[in-house]
Amino acid sequence: MTRPSIFLTRRWPASVETELRQRYHVTLNEDDHPLSARELKAALQAYDAVCPTVSDRIDAEVLGVESPRCRILANYGVGVNHIDLDAAKRRGIPVTNTPDVLTGCTADLTLTLLLMTARRAGEGEREVRGGVWTGWRPTHLLGSRVSGKTLGIIGMGRIGQAVARRAYHGFGMRIFYYHTHPLPAETVVELAATPCASIDELLPRCDFVSLHCPGGEKNFHLIDTERLQRMRPGAFLINTARGEVVDTEALIVAVKQGPLGGAGLDVYENEPQVHPELLKLDQVVLLPHLGSATVETREAMGRRVMANLDAFFADQSLPDPV
Ligand code: DGY
Repeated sequence: MTRPSIFLTRRWPASVETELRQRYHVTLNEDDHPLSARELKAALQAYDAVCPTVSDRIDAEVLGVESPRCRILANYGVGVNHIDLDAAKRRGIPVTNTPDVLTGCTADLTLTLLLMTARRAGEGEREVRGGVWTGWRPTHLLGSRVSGKTLGIIGMGRIGQAVARRAYHGFGMRIFYYHTHPLPAETVVELAATPCASIDELLPRCDFVSLHCPGGEKNFHLIDTERLQRMRPGAFLINTARGEVVDTEALIVAVKQGPLGGAGLDVYENEPQVHPELLKLDQVVLLPHLGSATVETREAMGRRVMANLDAFFADQSLPDPV
């Protein structure tokens, strides 16, 4: 029996590419360049399965390609806002993702950003590297203490809860949250977390606000001018979710003119472009979408994609249907 043909839109860690090759006929995007719509369409026409990721825009036009051979889109990543799920459904192409395996590392990176922002670590590093550090002094680069402060979490799913766990047990932060569904009582008790009935109720109560909701149309500019103005004076906004959840222009104004004390961003509208004004703001820490970027997690993500492919080609139920 011929092995199904699989196309990876971006390079994976070598160990999981090798594992995948042992089971399937695998084609790689050898030089790992971001694929154009034309290339994505060609892939949908040429392979039994396509494994896209967040840098691929698989919209209705791409999915409307003539005579696709592709029978499954096995996404490498948990977020699927880059795939038009309705169009995929209309085309009869199931979509899977990789939940769970990136929860801990994404939460770790959220705390990294929170601490870097509060403690002005980006500014400090630039100073040392720039050779302009003049030595210790009592008033040098004073930041905000994190312990005992309030953290508001918007989207209390797997990653939101993992962030809350670290912040509460590790840093003694008080947790407020907004989530679309009620949480299990034991989770609320474990984190001594206070539910808020709305985002507008949460914002003025928090020194730090961290976003953990999905991207896509539904949450487009969920954090806009009005909501930013509801935040506490000197509060910090952390975004490791998706860029489009925050209105970037409004964020820039809120950092420059208040009320925000700063922001920590791992994701952007129109990645990999970063708004030039953000680059000028010392109070903003900028990372290049590193949430899940550890060897362990990226390998686990590859294995999770494989589990979905294996189930699909064995006619079994999919472990992670979206
Ligand atoms: C995810 O899995 O959603 C990460 O942001 C990488 O795509």
